[in-house]
Amino acid sequence: MTQSEIEAIIERYGRKESSILSILQDIQTREKYLPREALEYVGEKLQIPLNKIYRIATFYRALSLMPRGRHEVCVCMGTACHVRGAQRVLDQLKLELGIAPGETTKDLNFTLETVNCLGVCAAGPVVAIDGQYFGKMNPTKVEGTLKQFRSDKKKEAADGKA
Ligand code: FES
Repeated sequence: MTQSEIEAIIERYGRKESSILSILQDIQTREKYLPREALEYVGEKLQIPLNKIYRIATFYRALSLMPRGRHEVCVCMGTACHVRGAQRVLDQLKLELGIAPGETTKDLNFTLETVNCLGVCAAGPVVAIDGQYFGKMNPTKVEGTLKQFRSDKKKEAADGKA
């Protein structure tokens, strides 16, 4: 992300301390995380100490200081999903992706997360990928479900977008 792109975001919300969260959210949406250089630039322009920006960035779950994957895989571990086998689905996802919850694959294609309830308990176990819900999940469905998003990446690469 270039400084002029960050500057455009700052201009959108105003060069004031109260704009900080909106600015960080925009950078997060665009980059899928908050690069240190971007935080330093914003801190300098808004005259906010870097340690204060880091406190904000670590307080909000939607903000991340680590690079995130293009696709976010959220496994519901709430009670209704848990009793229907969510742990086995999570174990299979960990195996397929080679990462634990909170981590991102090396190719930056997937980030794995767990949540406590996605609000569709009757469909449990539920996995959400980029906000798209997959209900009645079981370990044998994991590979096929991920495949759709893996082929997205290949298509983007073929289109020159990756
Ligand atoms: S417990 Fe999983 S959707 Fe509610």
